[in-house]
Amino acid sequence: MPSAAAPVVDIRDLSTVFGKGSEAFAVHQGLNLSVLPGEIVALVGGSGTGKTVLLRQMLGLLHPARGSVTVLGRPAEDMGGEGAAGRVGMLFQHGALYSAFNVLENVAFALNELGTLPRDVVRDAAMVKLRMVGLKPEHATRMPADLSGGMIKRVALARALIMDPPLLLLDEPTAGLDPNGADEFCALVRELHAALGLTMVMVTHDLDTLFALATRVAVLADKRVIVADTPAQVVQYEHPFIRQFFRGERGLRAMAPAHAVKER
Ligand SMILES: Nc1ncnc2c1ncn2[C@@H]1O[C@H](COP(=O)(O)OP(=O)(O)OP(=O)(O)O)[C@@H](O)[C@H]1O
Ligand SMILES: [Mg+2]
Repeated sequence: MPSAAAPVVDIRDLSTVFGKGSEAFAVHQGLNLSVLPGEIVALVGGSGTGKTVLLRQMLGLLHPARGSVTVLGRPAEDMGGEGAAGRVGMLFQHGALYSAFNVLENVAFALNELGTLPRDVVRDAAMVKLRMVGLKPEHATRMPADLSGGMIKRVALARALIMDPPLLLLDEPTAGLDPNGADEFCALVRELHAALGLTMVMVTHDLDTLFALATRVAVLADKRVIVADTPAQVVQYEHPFIRQFFRGERGLRAMAPAHAVKER
């Protein structure tokens, strides 16, 4: 959809290369993607196609071998990873809470690292975020080992949002949750998206999550984004990955009836 708004994420002609000399291999080559304010872009692609690496590029954790990754008008690498928290929140693929820290300490982590705010201010800010993700004050002192999978995702989400970033990256947010837990998490993400006016990029292989949340779908294949369009358009696109992903048995079930396409 054409829009005059400046993109929140603008990736141009990106190449990402790992290894050196004869060992070098490109994960991305000539990859383009832009994400407009308020969008929820679902990033899909086969395992190992570089979805997580692309999110790490947006966080400024990797230097592009070629091309540019611009986030909120500045080169992503200028954010220097650590300083990114105020601009970009990230929910990591494996939930990854610090196991030695309790819930509140996990949520408050980035604010504590800043070292500029009094303890009680940090605590209050973290409590607000906990409530925002549907957790109760009594959960604040629990340890990660004592949380359900759904609660871990909520704590990780609160932690990603602690500095009110306008851009939120989610890597497989519903992986490992049961269908009920996944639905609840999607409802929460949708609420926060509306309430906070967030822009989101979400990697997912879960079609229910994709259709519940995505305003646009970007497909990573052949080292680049082969198509980025509405879910209804993307499912029609001719490519072996899309055929298998969306029009395999799982895909047809998740799409029915809203996005169903006729299989010949
Ligand atoms: N720091 C690194 N050094 C070398 N190779 C890496 C590094 N990070 C990722 N890779 C490689 O880049 C490729 C893409 O990895 P990535 O984790 O982005 O895949 P993915 O699309 O997220 O897959 P999955 O769906 O399994 O999570 C893989 O071949 C991986 O081994
Ligand atoms: Mg990954």
